[in-house]
Amino acid sequence: MEITKDIQYVGVNDLREELFEGQFIVPNGMAYNSYVLLDEQIAVFDTVDAAFQEEWLKKIENVLGGKTPDYLIVQHMEPDHSANIVAFIEKYPKAKIVSSSKSFLMMKNYFGSDFSERQMVVGDGASLHLGKHELTFIAAPMVHWPEVIVTYDKTEKVLFSADAFGKFGAIDADEDWACEARRYYFGIVGKYGVQVQTLLKKLASYEIKTICPLHGPVLKDNLEYYLRLYDTWSSYGVESEGVLIAYTSVYGHTKEAVELLATRLQEKGCPKTVVCDLARSDMAEAVEDAFRYGKLVLATTTYNGEIFPFMREFLAQLTERNFQNRTVGFIENGSWAPMATRVMREKLEKCKNLRYTQATVKILSALSEESRGQIEELADELCKE
Ligand code: FEO
Repeated sequence: MEITKDIQYVGVNDLREELFEGQFIVPNGMAYNSYVLLDEQIAVFDTVDAAFQEEWLKKIENVLGGKTPDYLIVQHMEPDHSANIVAFIEKYPKAKIVSSSKSFLMMKNYFGSDFSERQMVVGDGASLHLGKHELTFIAAPMVHWPEVIVTYDKTEKVLFSADAFGKFGAIDADEDWACEARRYYFGIVGKYGVQVQTLLKKLASYEIKTICPLHGPVLKDNLEYYLRLYDTWSSYGVESEGVLIAYTSVYGHTKEAVELLATRLQEKGCPKTVVCDLARSDMAEAVEDAFRYGKLVLATTTYNGEIFPFMREFLAQLTERNFQNRTVGFIENGSWAPMATRVMREKLEKCKNLRYTQATVKILSALSEESRGQIEELADELCKE
């Protein structure tokens, strides 16, 4: 696949992985992208997952047409991109490895060698001339690991963006970009909004015509759309007006309350209501929706003097990703000592800029006239804002 006249795609689709990074479901597979830039000197950008070593090396060989690469540029040392460094240098022993100093430390840990005889360490702003192509390396620490660099090709205005602008799904998966890019972003990089903002500010001074990420499709059209979404996500802004109701229910009574609230919100004209049963849904999907919408209602039962386990896990996932800037309401259920709202508020204590609704809902085992009235108040308040 030709990306530009001089850049060829040599990545692979992984359709066998059930859990990417050991935790994220990937129903439409995963792409590990790699690129070859052909100039007077030839550079290969990143490797792929270990399971695809042979396929990847064959693809490189095919685009090289008998030539040999001069550089392997390692932008990110996570094994989904770096597992085949040793195989590459065994096949192309004259190639240099171009990467950040932190990457080479990681190589020593992964491979028992930092390849000192073929190292080319590049810092922020360093450049490399391949002939007519001039590459600039830009440090992008914590997008997604500390050693990450991204690379800008001044000649064809291409950004090799490492994990940034990546998504779940095979490269040719027929699906909405934002949906799986958002789940990927908040699942994997969501904690590091500040660092993503820093990278976006650095990139603002470059004219970019093509983005070549390490996962998902190459982006060529309407790049402002992708950059704007990344800006919203990394600044923890509200992407869509609406309410996510995330709940757990043991015997169905909390669920009944949630369904009543969702119905009343729709009837009152709430722009969008999304309901998520945390015990039965993909947790990463619930997390992305919490960051997507401006309002969140948490509904759960008191359980062992705490809250139901799936809600506990959900709140842990939100707080570790710096959940902030949202309106939050609560529905609690308890048969003898309800305390779920207090526990949930305590868990959110360190989150910045959360606004709690005045109305809260307390259910004592099952819905009553009183708790139905509280749901009506909560729906009113959520719709009024
Ligand atoms: Fe795609 Fe952070 O590795």
